[in-house]
Amino acid sequence: MTMKQSKLKSTGKATLIYENKSFELPTFVGSEGPAVVDIRKLYGDADIFTYDPGFTSTASCESDITFIDGEKGILLYRGYPIDQLAEHSTFLEVCYLLLHGELPNKEQFAKFDHSITMHTMVHEQLASFFRGFRRDAHPMAVMCGVVGALSAFYHDSTDINDPRQREVASHRLIAKMPTIAAMAYKYTVGQPFVYPLNSLGYTENFLRMTFAVPAEEYKVNPILAKALDTIFILHADHEQNASTSTVRLSGSSGANPFACIAAGIACLWGPAHGGANEAALKMLEQIGSVDKIPEFIKRAKDPNDDFRLMGFGHRVYKNYDPRAKAMQVQAHAVLEETGHQNDPLLKVAMELERIALQDEYFVSKKLYPNIDFYSGITLRALGFPTSMFTALFALARTVGWIAQWGEMIEDPAQKIGRPRQIYTGAQRRDYVPLGKR
Ligand code: CMC
Repeated sequence: MTMKQSKLKSTGKATLIYENKSFELPTFVGSEGPAVVDIRKLYGDADIFTYDPGFTSTASCESDITFIDGEKGILLYRGYPIDQLAEHSTFLEVCYLLLHGELPNKEQFAKFDHSITMHTMVHEQLASFFRGFRRDAHPMAVMCGVVGALSAFYHDSTDINDPRQREVASHRLIAKMPTIAAMAYKYTVGQPFVYPLNSLGYTENFLRMTFAVPAEEYKVNPILAKALDTIFILHADHEQNASTSTVRLSGSSGANPFACIAAGIACLWGPAHGGANEAALKMLEQIGSVDKIPEFIKRAKDPNDDFRLMGFGHRVYKNYDPRAKAMQVQAHAVLEETGHQNDPLLKVAMELERIALQDEYFVSKKLYPNIDFYSGITLRALGFPTSMFTALFALARTVGWIAQWGEMIEDPAQKIGRPRQIYTGAQRRDYVPLGKR
C-alpha cells in the first residue's frame, strides 16, 4: 500500500511545566494555518492527558485536502479557492480534485467520468430494500439504512487494504449516492423509481431521477442543473467537521467504506450540522415580510430570547462564509429562471442580510451569513421538499468523506481513534447482594 509521507515541519519545542517538572513538547506547522503542539507522548512522559470536549483546540490528523481560514473567510480545496471552483469547475471535476489532489487533464477526466457513470445503477434487489420502509420515512432515515446496506451488496470492494478495491468503493459511493437519494425521494412521494441515464451528466442525471415520471418527457434545464452542480461543489468538503470526523473515526477501526459513510450520514442528519438550511428557510417563512425584520433582529439580540438568526454565524468563519457568496449568486439565478424573482422570502433574506451586516451586535460578534442562509430558498425553488435538503448535503459531502477516509487509510500516523476521559463516577466499591440492598 502506498503510504502518505508526513509534510509537517518542525518549529521547535513548547515547554509544559507541571508539578515543578518541565516537559518538552515538539511543535510543528503544516503549509497553512497555526502551529500545533504534539502531545502524543504527553501521557507516557508526564502522566497527564489533555481535556478538549468538542475538539476546539485539537488537530486529529494531518490532511492535504481542504483548508479553512475562518478569520479571513477563506476555503480552499487542494489549494483552489472555493469561489473559483464554484464559478468555473464542475462537481465531477471537483470530485476528482478532492480524491486525487490535482485537477484532471482531459484524458484523466474522461476516464473518471466514465467510471462514475458506469457505477450509477444500484443492485436491483436494493429496490426491494426501499419497500421495507414506511412511505413517510424521512429521506435521511432511508439513506442511513440503504447506504449502510451497500456493504452487503458489493463484497468485492470492502477490502480496505487493497487500493483498487478502495478506488472502486469510492467510485461506487459517489456514483450511487444520487441514485439512492432520488429513490428515497420517489419512495416518499409514491412515484416509480427512475433509472439513471448514462448519456446525462452527474447532476442532470440526479435531477431527472428525482423529478421525471415515466408518463412524461423530462428535459433538464441547464441553468437549474448548473445551480445544483454549484451547490454540490460548495458542500463537497469542509475539513474535519463532525460528520467527516465520524467517518474517519469509524474507518479507524478498519470498518468498510460503505459502513463508514452511513455513519457520516447519521451524524450529518443532526440539526446542528446538516439541518440548518431547513431551519433558515423556516425562519424566513416565519418573518414573512420585510416590515417584520426589525422585530426579529431585536429578538436575535435579546440575551433572554433564545431566537437566533438561522443562517448567521459559524464556529470557524468569523468573516463572510465564502460559500455564502457563491450560494447567493445561484439563489438569484434559480429564482429568476423559475419565475420566483419576486419571491417575498428572497426580499426578506436580502434585507435581513443588509440590516444585520450593519448592526453593531452582529458586526462586533463577527456574525456573517453562512452557506445555509441562501441554500434553503434556492433548493425550494429547485423543487425539493425541505426533507430532502440534508439528503442533498449528504450526496455532495460523500466525496469529501471518502477522500478523507482514503487519506486516513494511507496515513501511517493514524491509529484507531480512542479518546480518553476524565472519570468522575463512583470510586471502587464492593458488590452488595440484592437481598442486602
Ligand atoms: N443569531 C444571534 N446571535 C448569535 C448567532 C445568531 N445566529 N450566532 C451566534 N450568536 C451570538 C451568541 O448568542 C453568542 O453571544 P454571547 O457571546 O453574547 O453569548 C455569540 O454570538 C457566540 O455564539 P456561540 O453560540 O458561542 O458560537 P458558536 O461558534 O458555538 O456557534 C453557530 C456557531 C453556527 C452554532 C451559531 O452561530 C448559530 O447557532 N448559528 C445559527 C445556526 C446556523 O446557521 N448554523 C449553520 C452553520 S453553517 C453549516 C456548516 O458549515 O455545517
